[in-house]
Amino acid sequence: MPAGILGIGKFIPERVLTNFDLEKMMDTSDEWIRTRTGIEERRITDDQTNTSDMAYGAAKKAIENARLSATDIDMILVATVTPDQPFPSVACMLQDRLGAGHVPSMDISAACAGFMYGMVTAKQFIESGTYKHVLIVGVEKLSKITNWDDRSTAVLFGDAAAAVVMGPVSEGKGILSFELGADGSGGKNLYQDEKFIKMNGREVFKFAVRQMGESAVNVVEKAGLKKEDIDFLIPHQANIRIMEASRERLGIPEDKMIKTIQKYGNTSASSIPLALADALEEGIIQDGNLIVMVGFGGGLTWGALTLRWGK
Ligand code: ACO
Repeated sequence: MPAGILGIGKFIPERVLTNFDLEKMMDTSDEWIRTRTGIEERRITDDQTNTSDMAYGAAKKAIENARLSATDIDMILVATVTPDQPFPSVACMLQDRLGAGHVPSMDISAACAGFMYGMVTAKQFIESGTYKHVLIVGVEKLSKITNWDDRSTAVLFGDAAAAVVMGPVSEGKGILSFELGADGSGGKNLYQDEKFIKMNGREVFKFAVRQMGESAVNVVEKAGLKKEDIDFLIPHQANIRIMEASRERLGIPEDKMIKTIQKYGNTSASSIPLALADALEEGIIQDGNLIVMVGFGGGLTWGALTLRWGK
């Protein structure tokens, strides 16, 4: 049976940091941030809330939403580049805190493409019949690796978590096609040094525009679909101009792109499931809709998939 999404949940920190707040902290402006990135505000956690706390909040809701209990989960995957510590992994912390069985649990380090890597990994285990229910969490506390003295990166990022439970769905639903890739030679353009995120914004921008467009087109073709079949595009919410470029490359109208960057900024591994969670809450996505998801990130990494919504 194909693998699809059975339940979804999100965790959004309460504290809102607006562009106007940032104006008071550094030499920047709401106008610059909005026009260059599309971001208006982002969420930042308090000092007591770590990555695993956000992951737990989102995971619990996703399991409830799937009408399952933690003991039904057969594998836990957590996509993050901001774990509480290098090890034990957030996934292992989650396994214990959720009260799941002693199931395989691991973190995936593929930056903003991490959730795509997680979903595609889960698909393999589900479709082979190895595991029935896989929990995948995309979570980042980017505020802890943000250099608040560097305006070129500090304005971009936010904290959040979103999770899905994947499992078998009926024929024709679930993941129809996918593409994953990496090019480590571009790693120098986006990385974390001892403390902070470092980025060559222009190089990342060029890569993202090319790769997001290409991958999105590839997965639609691989699924034997046409652009007219696409109901929604959920791109990684990194920069509105990058997102628009991938939408234009697919040749679909503006209202088919799910956009949450204005309220959350770039939340890396959690941005795609977070956008999906919001679109579902708003009733935008309906049973049978064809969704294209596409992400790119530090590594450099990329990943895309087509998903027919529903069980
Ligand atoms: N406020 C005001 N001015 C700024 C700011 C700011 N926050 N940041 C940079 N500037 C200035 C620069 O200093 C520069 O000034 P100068 O011309 O006097 O030198 C000017 O604005 C233009 O800077 P550029 O870097 O050319 O601006 P650009 O239009 O390229 O936008 C941006 C920068 C938004 C970072 C863009 O390059 C981008 O989005 N890149 C991709 C970023 C991205 O998606 N990263 C993903 C990371 S996710 C992950 O994997 C964790």
